[in-house]
Amino acid sequence: MPVRSFIAERIQSIGSSGIRKIFDLAATMADPIDLSLGQPDFAVPQAVKQAAIDAIRNDRNNYTVTHGLPALRDRILSGLVREFDWRPACLVTSGVSGGLVLALMACLNPGDEVLFADPYFVSYTHLVRLFGGTPVPVPVYDRFRLNAAAFEAAVTPRTKIIVINSPANPTGVVHGADEIEGIARLAERHDLLVISDEIYQLLSYDGPAASPVSFAPARTLLLRGFGKSYGMTGWRMGYAAGPEAIIAQMAKLQQFTFVCAPHMAQVGCITALDTDMSRQINDYRGKRDLIARELGDGYEFARPSGGFFVFPRIPAGYDSATQFVEAAIRNNLLVIPGNAFSARDTHFRVSYAVPDERIKRGCEVLRQLAERR
Ligand SMILES: Cc1ncc(COP(=O)(O)O)c(C=O)c1O
Repeated sequence: MPVRSFIAERIQSIGSSGIRKIFDLAATMADPIDLSLGQPDFAVPQAVKQAAIDAIRNDRNNYTVTHGLPALRDRILSGLVREFDWRPACLVTSGVSGGLVLALMACLNPGDEVLFADPYFVSYTHLVRLFGGTPVPVPVYDRFRLNAAAFEAAVTPRTKIIVINSPANPTGVVHGADEIEGIARLAERHDLLVISDEIYQLLSYDGPAASPVSFAPARTLLLRGFGKSYGMTGWRMGYAAGPEAIIAQMAKLQQFTFVCAPHMAQVGCITALDTDMSRQINDYRGKRDLIARELGDGYEFARPSGGFFVFPRIPAGYDSATQFVEAAIRNNLLVIPGNAFSARDTHFRVSYAVPDERIKRGCEVLRQLAERR
């Protein structure tokens, strides 16, 4: 039997991510101006590193309980009480990806429909499909705001979940409280679960990002992560908070899959939650201002308010974002075509999680590409 025939059908329905293909191409570039990265360029704060190192030295290298260290869960929950006056069930997960896997696996029956904005974080389509659901991307071009009426028009009797993400990848948009409330009320009207992916929550530059927890706490499953906020994407840390009935099923699945989030990283995250990140956030607000300025008049884009991406429309004269990105790569600049995140291929994602000097060099190439056509 050919080895390929051992592969399950469900995995064959998943194409390799557009980002991965571009990374493969990037590997052939000698010294690219790389504006493709999906992680911050600041270091994990020293005290957080030390806490994790001490945990290893003190032989805290075994499993933790599946739900996560009580001290970390207490700290997460006291933060949620302070922020929302909310006392949900809580599970420490292996990154937000771990939370998404467990939540979708726990909730989806075959054919259940999951709504989310297009453009979207790539995993949403793949994971929904992997667990038997039907992804239903709702286009939000060109303002990229969550429009409850557009989502309502996509609701069918099979709709079960709405996934929202604010601050958003790849657009950098932070949705307003009225837009988040619109989605929360829609979920109440149609009896849907809202999964709120708030991985970029700390990186919000024009005021705090609104959450559906403020409007529909009983039907919100909150997913938050430590990777982007504290520069520790490789530590694989996040948490899920929400209805006890769902968290209990996610914990059951975690027991048989991830088992627990990494022990020493959990210890580090207790310190992380009491670490002031305002210097790094101010620095990234400055990078946001810089890229918005440097992109200049040659590009049309929604001014980003959070995370570290901007999602401009390709300049006139290019047929597709893929064609535009190929031209950028020929000019030693690496950005990601919109079709990695969307049914459309009209925009491209630029990451500004890089030194200012690289933002300037990248924008210089982008200006040239726009002018040359
Ligand atoms: C919107 C969004 N959700 C989830 C993730 C995955 O996060 P983690 O590294 O915590 O698994 C990412 C990572 O890029 C993301 O952009």
